[in-house]
Amino acid sequence: MERIICLIAGYIFGLLQSGYFYGKAHKIDIRNYGSGNSGTTNALRVMGAKAGAIVFIGDFLKSLLPCLMIRFLFRTQPEMIYLLTLYTGFGVILGHNYPFYLNFKGGKGIAATAGLIVAIDLRLTLLCLAAFILIVAVTRYVSLGSLVVATILFVWLFIFGRIGTFGIDQRLLPEFYIVAALISGQAYWRHRANIGRLVRGRENKISIGSGKK
Ligand code: G3P
Repeated sequence: MERIICLIAGYIFGLLQSGYFYGKAHKIDIRNYGSGNSGTTNALRVMGAKAGAIVFIGDFLKSLLPCLMIRFLFRTQPEMIYLLTLYTGFGVILGHNYPFYLNFKGGKGIAATAGLIVAIDLRLTLLCLAAFILIVAVTRYVSLGSLVVATILFVWLFIFGRIGTFGIDQRLLPEFYIVAALISGQAYWRHRANIGRLVRGRENKISIGSGKK
């Protein structure tokens, strides 16, 4: 039951589409411009640096806050806490990627994944941040940085889940791995067009719009 509540609560938080509402406030539907994504990268590309920063902060916080809340609420159940945090983060990602009130056309869930990562572990956060910055600085491909972060998250959860770092009941480990795989797999699924372009050498490089749209 707690799992479903975390998933639904996460989904509701995920519905707060910063990019969509910021765009609407500036009289555009961000999903009709650039890559058609409603997240940070496209907000940056279409509406400029200020928009990118605001959209990132909004999408990041809508994930970080519920994940931290769940960690606090379930602090007396250490064997469940990380599993429920994953369910919550996954719910946020689903709400962000598939908002029912926008015909299920949302973003790619990376800022929401970042919020989950920060709620899980500071070292994991620093590792993901360093890898993301390095990859984007070298290649200019935000999508590649995003996919690497999704991969690091899964590997981290897999290794430290196995070692027992999360204090999770070992009988729950297969479920923990499945939710972790769904989170990272979802990032790959949402980036499938980006992956195709990366393979063909046609992916969009990071760019900052004029903000005049
Ligand atoms: O977080 C989304 C990013 O990885 C790719 O965005 O708009 O270039 O498809 P976009």
